[in-house]
Amino acid sequence: LASTEVDIGALQPGDSLTVKWRGKPVVVRNRTQKEIDDAKAASLSELKDPVARNANLQLDAPATDANRAAAGKENWFVMVNVCTHLGCIPLGQSGEYNGWFCPCHGSVYDTAGRIRSGPAPENMAVPVYSFLSDTKIKIG
Ligand code: FES
Repeated sequence: LASTEVDIGALQPGDSLTVKWRGKPVVVRNRTQKEIDDAKAASLSELKDPVARNANLQLDAPATDANRAAAGKENWFVMVNVCTHLGCIPLGQSGEYNGWFCPCHGSVYDTAGRIRSGPAPENMAVPVYSFLSDTKIKIG
């Protein structure tokens, strides 16, 4: 399918769901305030990959939390859950930053899916998506 619609109405803060899109797992997470605050606290200079990798923005957009999260809805976070090292599927709410941890070779991502340590070179990708309503998004 070129695009897929996802009902997110049941996701409370701290809940995630994963859907398959173009053969890849895409995670939709309703982030907690702490997760948002932690991601915002990181300065660009401490990020390994300073580029947002958000398909909804221009290619050189910086990897601020605002540029990683949904526009105007900072609790919502949508990401292709594929490690940018060799393509394993990182585990959520894991690792040093309580974001994602890749068990294959130890890459550590923060609560905005940005690579913080380990061999992965890039932040995990944010796919094209849009809100159809407050409780429904379209990925792709
Ligand atoms: Fe994730 Fe190697 S595939 S760290």
